[in-house]
Amino acid sequence: MQYTLITGASSGIGYEMAKHYAKQGEPLILVARREDILQELQQQYPHTKIEIIKMDLSMPENAKLIFKQTEEKALFVHRLINNAGFGEFGEFCHSDLEREIAMVNLNIQALMILTKCYLQPMKARNRGEILNVSSIAGFMPGPQMAVYYATKAFVTSFSKALSYELKDTNIRLSILAPGPTDTEFVKSANLANSNLFERLKAQTAKEVADYAIQHLGKKLVIIPKFFNKLLAFSAHLTPDWLLLKIVSYIQNKK
Ligand SMILES: NC(=O)c1ccc[n+]([C@@H]2O[C@H](COP(=O)([O-])OP(=O)(O)OC[C@H]3O[C@@H](n4cnc5c(N)ncnc54)[C@H](OP(=O)(O)O)[C@@H]3O)[C@@H](O)[C@H]2O)c1
Repeated sequence: MQYTLITGASSGIGYEMAKHYAKQGEPLILVARREDILQELQQQYPHTKIEIIKMDLSMPENAKLIFKQTEEKALFVHRLINNAGFGEFGEFCHSDLEREIAMVNLNIQALMILTKCYLQPMKARNRGEILNVSSIAGFMPGPQMAVYYATKAFVTSFSKALSYELKDTNIRLSILAPGPTDTEFVKSANLANSNLFERLKAQTAKEVADYAIQHLGKKLVIIPKFFNKLLAFSAHLTPDWLLLKIVSYIQNKK
């Protein structure tokens, strides 16, 4: 049996992706801290094989533990979706360092470890799909969310380089770079204090998830919505001094 492993499957984009695949009867491994939500999903789709792993991926060793658990059960992951992530709004000088360390561990370290662990068996079979969830934030620096934007720049750069290393294999890697999306992210990142979600119209998690699944493996960088594509493209053409002003204006404090 071949499994799709989704991190951050208890909410938002990851939850919608999990529902999409569960409806299709695709065997799933769902990872998040809130086990109860994953169990509800499992109960909603009794005919789909769903394994649940309750894990805090902001702890450095836990990503390796997930791989160990799936190896022990001999579960072959043919599709890896590194989706779990969070952000934090506020000036770097005053923000919570422990939360930022957890963010780097989750958004960067766990994603990188899971990619390496699951890539090796994919390489041995010469097949597989990887989706790394970045953001349009990955194309620009983000004053007031400096660490978050930088973590997403890592995801984008790392994934692009890896996709090149995999170009002569049957392993397809895509990067999902959504713009503002209406999920729990807004609350957890403290974005209620920012103008970001008022200035840019958010998509629903389902819209983003469906678009991502439709393009997974077909496109290297998947950017849902024309306006977000335009933002990402303009970021490449805009000098830093202006880009910083624009991003700061879009998401400054109310
Ligand atoms: N929403 C946006 O505007 C937006 C835009 C661009 C990119 N993104 C990216 O999209 C991805 C999904 O975010 P979302 O918007 O769907 O947010 P969300 O609704 O807050 O979902 C985040 C998911 O990550 C999981 N998670 C958080 N911390 C975790 C930890 N320490 N260990 C394991 N799992 C953890 C959460 O599950 P538990 O709390 O149960 O652990 C949840 O399932 C993230 O990578 C985010 O950066 C979001």
